[in-house]
Amino acid sequence: MIGAEPIGPLGPKTGENIRMTLVYPTKSNAAHPLPLSPAYRSSIKRAPQKPLIPMRHTLSELTGPVYGHETVRDGDSDLTRQHAGEPLGERIMIHGHVLDEDGRGVPNTLVEVWQANACGRYVHIRDQHPAPLDPNFTGAGRAKSDASGYYKFTTIKPGAYPWGNHHNAWRPAHIHFSVFGYCFVSRLVTQMYFPGDPEFDPIFNSVPDEKARMRMVSSFDLENTKPEWALCYRFNIVLRGRDATPMETQ
Ligand SMILES: [Fe+2]
Repeated sequence: MIGAEPIGPLGPKTGENIRMTLVYPTKSNAAHPLPLSPAYRSSIKRAPQKPLIPMRHTLSELTGPVYGHETVRDGDSDLTRQHAGEPLGERIMIHGHVLDEDGRGVPNTLVEVWQANACGRYVHIRDQHPAPLDPNFTGAGRAKSDASGYYKFTTIKPGAYPWGNHHNAWRPAHIHFSVFGYCFVSRLVTQMYFPGDPEFDPIFNSVPDEKARMRMVSSFDLENTKPEWALCYRFNIVLRGRDATPMETQ
């Protein structure tokens, strides 16, 4: 993404004016979840037990390999049109901007999403909980932010699902987001929640700061709801700085 130490336009892969950085921040700040958050049970085994060893990025990490951006097609952002029929569930639109710490839109960011279907079931071998799969829903999509950093998806609202973290544990409705700049070390992953939903979720609560937590919650966007067709939610992703969206640390 755009950093504090640009090394000038690097655009041969897309022909567009892209600034890159010599240094990507490796430390999370107060916005991000703690590596060890005991209420989120699997973080106990995943959290590093020794201090991290910083590794200086070399040109190969900062310039490539790039993947995904060139192959994004318009239809990839509509998860309701990937099969012969329409998926079951509540059709929704999600849109917003990818922003830097100063509120400027970040163009050409690969935005990827994955989610459960309306019944809370993923198309994945490890998800065997007894909710139905939907033959018309895969649950994965991607888009590229435009010149102003704007992106948009059409999908269905995911259902809650059980996850075994503790007795009677259910993940609230959420959509996983990944944003990718122009090299592998620029990938950030987060989750988007729906208003009023996530307060009991240990993953949501692994972000200590309340204001930062709330930046993972989308807002209902009545103005852009399409009458007789779909509700709309706004979700801006702030890559870093005081208003950064919390990103997953594992
Ligand atoms: Fe999930």
